[in-house]
Amino acid sequence: MKVAIFGASGATGLLLTHRCLDAGYAVTALLRSPDRFPLRDRVRVVVGSALESMAVRQTVEGADVVLSALGARSWHNEYVLEQAVPLIVTAMRQTGVSRIIVLGGASARAESLDRQPAPVRWLLRRVLYEGMLKWPSAAQRAQWLTLSASGLDWTMVMPPMLTNGRARHRVRVDGEALPRRGMRISRADVADFMMQQIGSDRWVGTGVYIAW
Ligand SMILES: NC(=O)c1ccc[n+]([C@@H]2O[C@H](COP(=O)([O-])OP(=O)(O)OC[C@H]3O[C@@H](n4cnc5c(N)ncnc54)[C@H](OP(=O)(O)O)[C@@H]3O)[C@@H](O)[C@H]2O)c1
Repeated sequence: MKVAIFGASGATGLLLTHRCLDAGYAVTALLRSPDRFPLRDRVRVVVGSALESMAVRQTVEGADVVLSALGARSWHNEYVLEQAVPLIVTAMRQTGVSRIIVLGGASARAESLDRQPAPVRWLLRRVLYEGMLKWPSAAQRAQWLTLSASGLDWTMVMPPMLTNGRARHRVRVDGEALPRRGMRISRADVADFMMQQIGSDRWVGTGVYIAW
């Protein structure tokens, strides 16, 4: 299996890269700063930004599946997903790669809170989605819209708040909304779930919520 990874140097991306290598997959990673990437000797490195179409194309070319754990490094409006995801989709279409599994965020969709008690729903929408996470939420909505219109075999994994804790190997999965009171999940469990999607067509062409 040949895997192209965007965001490999991030907190979730590094876990994903380790899992791909452990599975024996050949990994190509697009990296802005390869010198700082601990697995640089074990992957094929494309040096560049996800905002550069040529670098993006070199990354996806020949892949069987594309994984993305891309995201802005801050809560400000950096427009990373807004700009990078269309470039990835275009590069995949041009090179005939059809499968993509991305790390998204629950705030991509307003209905993500539908299973929460009304006061919690109101609080999270006002304080997080429309407040602190205004720009990350806008980025995730853009990612959702781009993938929805892509015609690719896409899956957007949509967790709530991510932690650096260990995998619990027991996650709740829901195609419609975040599980009730499911407000956290570890990056380790998210990475495991994304890896499972490589061999599965259960959530192709849609988003899926996961939480502890
Ligand atoms: N934090 C949460 O609680 C939470 C909750 C739900 C969803 N999410 C989503 O999960 C995603 C990943 O989160 P994370 O905490 O694992 O990520 P992270 O540690 O912030 O890593 C972000 C990754 O994106 C890369 N990146 C950013 N801009 C880039 C560019 N222009 N070109 C190439 N690479 C670029 C970074 O590369 P560099 O190393 O070069 O900077 C890094 O590898 C984000 O999209 C976030 O919105 C987060």
